[in-house]
Amino acid sequence: MIAQDLMDTAHQLVGGGKGLLAMDESTPTCDERFAGTGIPQTVEARRAWRELLVTTPRLGDSISGAILYDETIRQQKKDGTPFVKVLAEAGIIPGIKVDTGEEDLAGYPGEKITEGLDGLRERLRDYFQMGARFAKWRAVVSPAEGLPSRGCIEANAHGLARYAALCQEAGLVPIVEPEVLMAGEHTMERCREVTEETLRSVFAQLSAQRVLLEGMILKPNMVLPGLRCPKQEGVDEVAAATVKCLRRVVPAAVPGIAFLSGGQPAELASARLNAINIISMSATARLPWALVFSFARAIQQPALEIWRGRESCVALAQDTLAHRARCNRAALHGEYTTAMEPA
Ligand code: 13P
Repeated sequence: MIAQDLMDTAHQLVGGGKGLLAMDESTPTCDERFAGTGIPQTVEARRAWRELLVTTPRLGDSISGAILYDETIRQQKKDGTPFVKVLAEAGIIPGIKVDTGEEDLAGYPGEKITEGLDGLRERLRDYFQMGARFAKWRAVVSPAEGLPSRGCIEANAHGLARYAALCQEAGLVPIVEPEVLMAGEHTMERCREVTEETLRSVFAQLSAQRVLLEGMILKPNMVLPGLRCPKQEGVDEVAAATVKCLRRVVPAAVPGIAFLSGGQPAELASARLNAINIISMSATARLPWALVFSFARAIQQPALEIWRGRESCVALAQDTLAHRARCNRAALHGEYTTAMEPA
């Protein structure tokens, strides 16, 4: 029964031609983004921003699920309505980030391990009762010079698999997010190699921990050149490299792949997602999984820059958010063009 529920939830998240809104920034990350746009770093400002997001008119037209953070899942609108209820009424499934962030990996200078397994079974039970139906855990892998190590890849893959198994036991669909970072000078080919090696390890561990592939979602990076790499491939080359990598390592039983944006400019992320879906729809290369988005910055950032904490700018910021969500939805159907963007 749980297996069927997990498969149904996963299908609702990725199978309806919509994507996910990641709004699960931890307090330090949210505060950092607020500081960058001159917004006060207070509980009330974070609550007001999240209220703006969840009350965006017609958000449910493009968004199937929203990933919340521990602070946010417990918060309400100014009128007292819990955010979880607001989302459910908009037809959006609430999810929850459950890792507790990255720490230095002992013995591996420059590398990180994601923490959060202690007490996770109990936390998942509580989140389910609060209305969450899926969860997220992010692990980071750096492709900087001389990295990543096998030890880092395997430790993080093991953590992701232990988390995913606990989620499924609790009736939550795990979003498994191994992110190969974009920062750095590495080439796109190096990103592809590291992403492939990481995903191979992740799926080996998921299998070892008996995770039901049909009841999970993979949240990977696109295969991209490093931000400071002198050679920046075009949209079609990025899409081809991403699809090539995923075809090699992601089992067909996985219902969906929901990309993170990783700091890409919002319009470029939409264009790349569009090109990936055009490949997927071509007769010769039909891919077995839905290819959707689970963006945070590439959906939120343009709206955040308009809002800047000002009540008078809420409606315009919501229009901007809904616009980005619509663009990304169009990209799932290969229908995004830059003509959709304001001049
Ligand atoms: P970005 O889209 O900003 O990379 O965030 C996605 C996410 O959920 C990071 O964990």
